Amino acid sequence: MPPLTVTGYALFGLTVMIAIVMVVAGVKIVKAISGRGGSRKPESRGESAMLSMALQEAVTKLKTQERATAARAEASERLASQIVEGLTSGLVVVDRAGIVQTINPAAGRILGIDDTAVQVPFRDVLATAPALADVIGEALEGGAPIARRTVALGGSSKPSHLGVTVSPISDAEGALQAAVCLFTDLTAVVELEEQLRLKEALARLGELTAGLAHEFRNGLATIHGYGRLLDPATLQEPHRAYIEGIRAETTALGEVVTNFLRFARPEQLVMAPVDLRAVIVRAIEDLPGDAVSVAGEFGTVDGDDVLLRQAFSNLVRNSLEACAAGGVTARIVITGEVSDRDVHVTVDDNGPGLAREALDRLFQPFATTKPTGTGLGLAIVQKVIVSHNGVISAGNRPDGGAQFRVRLPLSPNPDGLRA
Ligand SMILES: Nc1ncnc2c1ncn2[C@@H]1O[C@H](COP(=O)(O)OP(=O)(O)OP(=O)(O)O)[C@@H](O)[C@H]1O
Ligand SMILES: [Mg+2]
Repeated sequence: MPPLTVTGYALFGLTVMIAIVMVVAGVKIVKAISGRGGSRKPESRGESAMLSMALQEAVTKLKTQERATAARAEASERLASQIVEGLTSGLVVVDRAGIVQTINPAAGRILGIDDTAVQVPFRDVLATAPALADVIGEALEGGAPIARRTVALGGSSKPSHLGVTVSPISDAEGALQAAVCLFTDLTAVVELEEQLRLKEALARLGELTAGLAHEFRNGLATIHGYGRLLDPATLQEPHRAYIEGIRAETTALGEVVTNFLRFARPEQLVMAPVDLRAVIVRAIEDLPGDAVSVAGEFGTVDGDDVLLRQAFSNLVRNSLEACAAGGVTARIVITGEVSDRDVHVTVDDNGPGLAREALDRLFQPFATTKPTGTGLGLAIVQKVIVSHNGVISAGNRPDGGAQFRVRLPLSPNPDGLRA
């Protein structure tokens, strides 16, 4: 038999009370009929006193039971709401009509939405995460559970990826009543996977091409050497220009190959705690002009100061080149912000911003829009950042200009500072 609800207990109590009252009344009537005309005997008074005591006892017992049941119901309700509130995963419960019945604080936190928005259509509540709403919609339509699906929220939304499980709830007849959606923020996991993938790809690319580039450099050095042996002064006019062309081209190609080798070679990192602000200040010291300002907090990271300096100097050099190409006086701002475990650095410039064709292949080697660029600058930056377990991304600022965002893990041992 299923346990009785509070109402069940109340009805049961009422029935028992009515039955007892009817029994008492019946006994009284029988007594009245049989003893009509005679005087009331002392036993009959004793019986009714006993009955009334039994009645009293039954009522008291029922009341105690009712209180205990109500307390149990309240405790289990409290526990359920504590579980929902305390879950670190986001929880959204939607009824079969698509109306949100429950939404917990973690859901609000993860998605940045109002966690009090119940009794509202779920697509309205999840307007900023339509991909998540689609998964719930799919479960409501199909009635089948969806287990551990990775959902990309798209755009620059934070979080970028969610791990989602949706469990449909059906009644005894199998008709769908609601869908319970649980989700967690997978952004860090996906970023880590992406980092690993990049590291592996870079290592493979390095192995494949470093040998080839090395051979190229040897051949170029030979051509360049022979070119040097020819003295232009001893040559006649059209030939003089040829030899100068050969020298200039071999020098330029030599630089490309050297840069590429630097990029492709597996880097031997000299890791030590370094003061990131000092590294950045040194990176911009090498650059011409005073168009660069450094603001904010940078903290200490575990890294190779030479490589980090190269990475930031490449970023700033690009900004200076973009501003020069756009014909504007460069204003480049490098801002640092320290969070729990990371430092976030942004490099903002007031140049023309990243061109459409550059955006898709920004960090790929040899992707350049400049007539004299090698397209290795950002590939090297990415390699350095990734090898420091960091992440780099880029975009255009709403008011024009490019923004490069670098995230590096803070050193767990900042006291051993070297730089
Ligand atoms: N701050 C910026 N503003 C606008 N475009 C940029 C900026 N930084 C990079 N880019 C774009 O990204 C492309 C790739 O940059 P990257 O540094 O890899 O190569 P490069 O600067 O073209 O050549 P190299 O660095 O080898 O001289 C550039 O050609 C340019 O189109
Ligand atoms: Mg560059």
